[in-house]
Amino acid sequence: MPERRCRFDRGSGTPRRNTGSTSGGDDPSHSLESPRGPEGHPGSRANRPGERANDRRTRSLVSASPHLEQNGNAPDPGSVLGIRRLALGFLGLAGVTYALIVLGALVRAHGAGLSCPDWPLCFGKVIPAFDARIAFEWSHRVLAGSVGLGFLTLSALTLRKAGLRPQMGKGLLAAGLLLALQIVLGGLTVLRLLASWTVTTHLLTGNAFALALVLLGRKLWALADASGPDPSPRPEPATTSQKFAVVLAGALLFCQILLGGLVSSNYAGLACPDWPTCMNGEFFPSWRGAQGLHVLHRSFGYACFLAIFFAAWSGRNHRVVRRWLAIAALLVSAQIVVGITNVLLRLPVEITGLHSALAAGLVCCLGVAVREIARSPTPG
Ligand code: HEM
Repeated sequence: MPERRCRFDRGSGTPRRNTGSTSGGDDPSHSLESPRGPEGHPGSRANRPGERANDRRTRSLVSASPHLEQNGNAPDPGSVLGIRRLALGFLGLAGVTYALIVLGALVRAHGAGLSCPDWPLCFGKVIPAFDARIAFEWSHRVLAGSVGLGFLTLSALTLRKAGLRPQMGKGLLAAGLLLALQIVLGGLTVLRLLASWTVTTHLLTGNAFALALVLLGRKLWALADASGPDPSPRPEPATTSQKFAVVLAGALLFCQILLGGLVSSNYAGLACPDWPTCMNGEFFPSWRGAQGLHVLHRSFGYACFLAIFFAAWSGRNHRVVRRWLAIAALLVSAQIVVGITNVLLRLPVEITGLHSALAAGLVCCLGVAVREIARSPTPG
């Protein structure tokens, strides 16, 4: 039986003609146009009154999407499934990276960051003698290595499909660079004895890499949708003010994660031991040193809260971003409560871990919202 391929399959990347009457092509749920042509036989879909308009709409969607078969062939369900599996692979890897970020925060909160004093080995060995702290730090490294291997495998599988290369190449390159930077920063964090700038950039890059994996997974899923039987609609328009609100919230969140990393790596978590005031009944006793960092982190936290709620309100009519912004609004509310609890309970490791987990969740939701709103056309 001749093999049917769609444009994402391995090979030249050029769409190939369907040469066989295989199951996928005969299944109407996988056909964008009747194999007999638009006229068909009497009683065919195309000839039934009321369905011609649907067929016209389908044809216009075919020509609207650059990812669909344009030569009248049905897309290959096997290939669409392959792309979906890749998408799920990237999203799954984003989940593991998310766990890695939280594990990293717990390693730091347990004071285990230098339990393996050398890098890339631990006490000069691949598998050292363990105590609890060494096990913590070592498992962080092993999980990080697995994420790296997982990324390389998924990237290779994606790039093997020639039709995906132009769509995915740049994104994969950007994510690969983030991963390389993250590995170097992880090593420097140990070799520079937890210097504040390495800890903070390690935190930022880790979050950016997790977000990149989510975006890659979503993009592959969208490509599978566009080449499947039910093409996804075009991006929904967004007004300039909606775009501004979402991008502003994203920019503030970026600054807030940066400040959070600086607070923890400078051991400034208890520089303001009270709440709602910082210390001695004063809200802003100083803008300098550890206390200044802490005050700035709190202030940006409240600003993030307001900005994310404003963005959620502003984007409430946007079909795609509104759910991401709604989740972000929930997460930032929880984050403020957890941040305050962290101070009032004097930084217990569980709460510190939860604070990092919520921050990573916020990066993911708001990052997707920024990406989606950025690609939305502006009306008029
Ligand atoms: C949008 C809101 C917030 C975000 C996204 C955020 C994010 C972060 C991040 C990423 C860290 C670094 C965690 C790490 O190194 O593992 C951090 C640390 C910290 N944050 Fe926040 N934060 C927010 C609001 C707040 C608020 C309102 C407070 C207190 C009132 C607070 C208190 C702290 C403290 C005390 C630390 C240091 C924890 C430690 O040293 O273990 N945060 N934050």
